[in-house]
Amino acid sequence: MDVKLVLLPGDGIGPEIVAEARRVLEAVATRFGHAFTFEEHLMGGCAIDATGDPLPPETLAACQASDGVLLGAVGGPKWDDPTAKTRPEKGLLAIRKEMGLFANLRPITSFPEMLDASPLKREIVEGVDVLFLRELTGGIYFGESGTGERDGHELAYSTMVYDESEIVRIVRLAATAAMGRGKKLTSVDKANVLECSRLWRRVTEKVVKEEFPEVTLEHVLVDAMAMHLISRPKDFDVVVTGNMFGDILTDEASMLPGSLGMLPSASLGSSGPGLYEPIHGSAPDIAGKGVANPLATILAAAMLLRHSLHLEEEATAVEAAVRAVVAAGHRTADVAAGGASIGTAEMGEKVLEALAA
Ligand code: IPM
Ligand code: MG
Repeated sequence: MDVKLVLLPGDGIGPEIVAEARRVLEAVATRFGHAFTFEEHLMGGCAIDATGDPLPPETLAACQASDGVLLGAVGGPKWDDPTAKTRPEKGLLAIRKEMGLFANLRPITSFPEMLDASPLKREIVEGVDVLFLRELTGGIYFGESGTGERDGHELAYSTMVYDESEIVRIVRLAATAAMGRGKKLTSVDKANVLECSRLWRRVTEKVVKEEFPEVTLEHVLVDAMAMHLISRPKDFDVVVTGNMFGDILTDEASMLPGSLGMLPSASLGSSGPGLYEPIHGSAPDIAGKGVANPLATILAAAMLLRHSLHLEEEATAVEAAVRAVVAAGHRTADVAAGGASIGTAEMGEKVLEALAA
């Protein structure tokens, strides 16, 4: 298989962790007889510094012409000035919109050996396995917004808008995922208050009833979901929700396994390349020190193999290698709980060894 991949190392620890994921992808290509070529491009704060634009047109074009995109992380204090002309996050929103990446998949699974790092009790989080599908190119992030004045006071507004087609496509994807898992789908909204959520609920109900009769669907209000995720996370299988609710709930859910450094995500469209990244940020405080945890990015590369290249065996091999390394007790500092730790490159090396074994 001939494959063209784009790497967007980005800012902070991004370059270090993407370098390890690249080594793993190269090893996969060799072991399974594929030809992967890599192109690196600028995105985020480094792109603002070099070009003034967090998503330069060359970067977007390269991503669109690729078979898959692996992103490290973007942002950092250097670009945090609220009065700045542009911000790294703008590049992230733009690449999602431009590439039509309407579905953000965030699998929340735990590593049994790391459960003591969770702020929750072991019996609550042990065996958690939830797949979030967050709508990513609509809702309040992209609705009409503006500023003005009312009764002499400054005013600002952002609107939450979804049309039926946007809801249908994400719900279809979520229900399809549920069919391959526990056949249970939880749709999260705020239908007791928001008109937009009432449409979301009606459309979800219709799609699941007509196209996925085997899937059990429940609707949960977003405030209640925030509680249930903490009190009984094991009750959930696949969760589908809009852009902002998904942003908030997936950060909450990322705390369940107790190891943010282990969680990957995928952003997919209806066709074309997907974008894969760790869910953690650019961790500027430890950037350049060679201590960052590359495992979430390596697991994101596994998702790329699975979802964009349809290389299931290869994806499973990478995930098994990561599990083996964790089971063997190797830890970067973020998950070492004060115990012995190894660096970014050493951890990459361990995964390569496990992959070859
Ligand atoms: C995320 C992030 C982004 C979002 C920010 C950085 C724009 O929080 O990917 O969850 O809100 O979508
Ligand atoms: Mg977020």
